[in-house]
Amino acid sequence: MTSIHAIRAEDFEEWTALWDGYLRFYESEVPAAVTARTFRRITEGDGVHGAIARDDEGRAIGLVHWLTHASTWSPTDYCYLEDLFVAPGVRGGGVGRALIAHVRDWAAEHGSDKLYWLTQEGNATARALYDRVATHTGFTHYEIAL
Ligand SMILES: CC(C)(COP(=O)(O)OP(=O)(O)OC[C@H]1O[C@@H](n2cnc3c(N)ncnc32)[C@H](O)[C@@H]1OP(=O)(O)O)[C@@H](O)C(=O)NCCC(=O)NCCS
Repeated sequence: MTSIHAIRAEDFEEWTALWDGYLRFYESEVPAAVTARTFRRITEGDGVHGAIARDDEGRAIGLVHWLTHASTWSPTDYCYLEDLFVAPGVRGGGVGRALIAHVRDWAAEHGSDKLYWLTQEGNATARALYDRVATHTGFTHYEIAL
């Protein structure tokens, strides 16, 4: 059975392997200093939260990161799920669904008004899951790189 726990300092090597897989999935790289800072922020509770999923043998098989922010539309914060990744060999077994449920429960316990996330239009695999657990809003994402 999958277990999910908050990311701790001792998870660094396993977390890094999953994080690298996630970046490869997006054909992206981030500087090592950013990776180190992100991990530090997660483990020190500095504005970013993270959880890791483990299989029966204790192997790390998935990660999720999230944060909260104020909203002009709500008296309470919104919760934004920024990263979700499951190791290729265990996909389709409910780990992604469990990681989303973990964040949903956390957000509800911490008084968030809603949990939301973005995905690429063409990410059919992720959307097959998201369509089962959330509502597709129809919003389109824009950004300006600075
Ligand atoms: C998206 C991702 C996190 C899903 O994780 P996962 O552990 O495979 O997902 P789950 O097993 O919990 O899937 C849950 C549902 O989605 C469906 N699903 C998952 N993979 C699917 C696939 N390849 N094709 C069709 N349906 C799929 C399952 O049928 C399942 O529904 P069910 O439980 O009702 O049968 C994983 O594929 C992944 O890490 N992908 C690469 C990174 C990525 O895209 N991250 C998300 C960025 S927004």
